[in-house]
Amino acid sequence: MSVASIVFGVLFCVATVVLLGGLALRIADYARTPAPLKIPTTPAPVTRGGVVLRMVREVVFFESLFKGSLWTWLFGWLFHASLALVLARHLRYFTEPVWGWVVLVQPLGILAGFGMVAGLAGLLVRRFAVERIRYISTPSDYLMLVLLLAIAVSGLAMKYLAPTDVVGVKKFFLGLMYFDWQPLPADGVLYLHLALVAALMIVFPFSKLLHAPGVFFSPSRNQVDNPREARHLAPWAAKLDRS
Ligand code: HEM
Repeated sequence: MSVASIVFGVLFCVATVVLLGGLALRIADYARTPAPLKIPTTPAPVTRGGVVLRMVREVVFFESLFKGSLWTWLFGWLFHASLALVLARHLRYFTEPVWGWVVLVQPLGILAGFGMVAGLAGLLVRRFAVERIRYISTPSDYLMLVLLLAIAVSGLAMKYLAPTDVVGVKKFFLGLMYFDWQPLPADGVLYLHLALVAALMIVFPFSKLLHAPGVFFSPSRNQVDNPREARHLAPWAAKLDRS
């Protein structure tokens, strides 16, 4: 077993624990955070079913971003939709036998690699080119875009410039999942792709990328607009109310 195989094996175990453990703690924190006020962004649905529908439109189509800024929506949606396809395509490295729908999505997943790059490039140019966005941009805003871009470009490089041993990659990751360690193919571009992915997994629970689980806990999106029909009481206020 090469040193690189051991280093990447340990790195991915650590990254997985940090990602899953960190996300679980964050989500528990979000779930416990009180929402003392009724503040759905109006016009808002007046029933629970309506709220679910609104949330689905928000998560799948980025509805409020569409209404807010067409260019940001275009690049943002292109990036996220492409990312979903790319991740679906990657499932082949972690499943045996590969599920039917993952086989079907393979060609789309490659196209999506380019979609990801185009979307991220657009979002990066926006941070530099739009004066008011440049003013509020922090190093982490740039860093996340550059990290994701580097992951996509190194992935595409393996597909088109320096093909890697994908069967070996799959053996390595299945081996990690089933505690039967296998060597990782020795390949510089693969090392780069994987190191960047591990970095992404480790920073995820501490970064702005938490907007992914966070959107579901946003009171302005997940509340029913019924302040006249039902009195809104946060749990701590309910306690005061009784005393
Ligand atoms: C442990 C996780 C990952 C492994 C083992 C992995 C491995 C690979 C491999 C072997 C390729 C080359 C595919 C080929 O030659 O057909 C590739 C391509 C690619 N990867 Fe990853 N990758 C991982 C995670 C990610 C993540 C999280 C992203 C995005 C954020 C990503 C984005 C891409 C893209 C855009 C391509 C090019 C398009 C494609 O072939 O699907 N990868 N990856």
